[in-house]
Amino acid sequence: MFLKIDPSLATTKDIHSLLLSAVGPRPIALASTIDKNGVRNISPFSFFNVFSSNPPIAIFSPARRVRNNTTKDTLENIREINEVVINSVNFDIAEQMYISSKDFPKNIDEFDESKLTPLESIKVRPYRVSESPVQIECKVNDIIELGKDGGAGNLIICEVVLIHINKNILDEENKIDQEKIKLIGRLGGDWYSKGYDKALFKLKK
Ligand SMILES: Cc1cc2nc3c(=O)[nH]c(=O)nc-3n(C[C@H](O)[C@H](O)[C@H](O)COP(=O)(O)O)c2cc1C
Repeated sequence: MFLKIDPSLATTKDIHSLLLSAVGPRPIALASTIDKNGVRNISPFSFFNVFSSNPPIAIFSPARRVRNNTTKDTLENIREINEVVINSVNFDIAEQMYISSKDFPKNIDEFDESKLTPLESIKVRPYRVSESPVQIECKVNDIIELGKDGGAGNLIICEVVLIHINKNILDEENKIDQEKIKLIGRLGGDWYSKGYDKALFKLKK
């Protein structure tokens, strides 16, 4: 009745794609970082969530590439400048978010490539993504390496220091309206989901 997969007997590629299809929809962090020369990077990460409200902590994970065990620019940038802006991703910026996931060389400004607009942050050096409905300025408290081989994650432990919310997504009580923020999530393969409209339902407390 159940197919059993033992990770020690499967390829990393197969485990990766299985987990991506089984665990979702996952929120997407559009992480904005900057290197020591001031080159700006933005990249999406769906190994991402919030884990604590006091202190407010978010974690995302740029993994070592499965194909050649190299590390991602986002991780290298954070090792140089330990700050990040986590920008939420809604349906309106899905295409630009996808462009920013391409493997551009480290010296390329990914705001330019993805046609997203940089906005200066207040408490950290990386720029915010102007089009993103919620922009979360964070200091990186710690990086936890989960392994040394291709596919190993690197947990970036981010402490939230300032949150910017576009007023257009608020309701009359100044709360975020799920129908207005229009968040999207990542599933397996090329699949994404919408977190609004007919996809929404409520469970009574
Ligand atoms: C929606 C989406 C989610 C992604 N999530 C992750 C992730 O959680 N971890 C990861 O290592 N790569 C993830 N990627 C791939 C990275 O975005 C991609 O490798 C990117 O080129 C990294 O850029 P960088 O080298 O500039 O940091 C994701 C891509 C997309 C489109």
